[in-house]
Amino acid sequence: MQRIVEPELMDDKAQAEAYANADFEQAEKLFLSTFQLYFPCQKIKGHMLDLGCGPGNISFQLANYFPNINVTGIDGSVEMIKLANERKKIELNSSDQVNFITSVLPSSAIPQKIYTSIVSNSLLHHLHHPEILWTTIKQYSSSNTKILIIDLFRPPCKEDALAIVNQYAANEPEVLQHDFYNSLLAAFTAKEIEQQLLNAGLTDLEMKTISDRHIAIFGIKTR
Ligand SMILES: C[S@@+](CC[C@H](N)C(=O)[O-])C[C@H]1O[C@@H](n2cnc3c(N)ncnc32)[C@H](O)[C@@H]1O
Repeated sequence: MQRIVEPELMDDKAQAEAYANADFEQAEKLFLSTFQLYFPCQKIKGHMLDLGCGPGNISFQLANYFPNINVTGIDGSVEMIKLANERKKIELNSSDQVNFITSVLPSSAIPQKIYTSIVSNSLLHHLHHPEILWTTIKQYSSSNTKILIIDLFRPPCKEDALAIVNQYAANEPEVLQHDFYNSLLAAFTAKEIEQQLLNAGLTDLEMKTISDRHIAIFGIKTR
């Protein structure tokens, strides 16, 4: 099945609210457990960059888990960052650790020159020009930067995409089911991501399928 792109930004108010209210516990747990698996026994500290942070789900989760990090979340959607900042007001443990910026990638609004870790969950499949993610990672990392990107991968056909939606999102609002289906059609295959990494010269990153619909790209920069 050919890739069918979806709109990059989730800037519709109802869409952003439905996303922020959805139950992503499983995906969030998967992100944290994958981070722990690939960076075991590491005291994670310093500045972390969360690309395409949406309402901040992963930013808050990692900040709550690692008390010595400061997270900058960046997203091009005004509505998403509004929701992230609303959550910041009620997050008791990690609100001081997390900051959000509204900016479309590629962006010159990223505050630090280099980050000790860079993460991104479910951004890649939104990008019409996926190299934007990889060049941003290259620009804001140096040796020892920990990188974890998790995204969907594209199923072989539309019927498989529908089956995944029915299996994992049957109880979610229609707008979310619709977004999830479109995201699966817009996602990249492992082969395509491998080529993107090669083109970007990010050969120190590895890639692994971690569920029936998720793929992880991870590693510690060596140069
Ligand atoms: C599926 S959401 C994922 C949100 C969050 N990472 C999470 O795991 O809950 C993808 C987000 O990427 C944002 N996005 C897409 N293209 C972008 C771009 N070029 N620059 C910044 N944000 C972008 C969208 O607005 C949306 O909020």
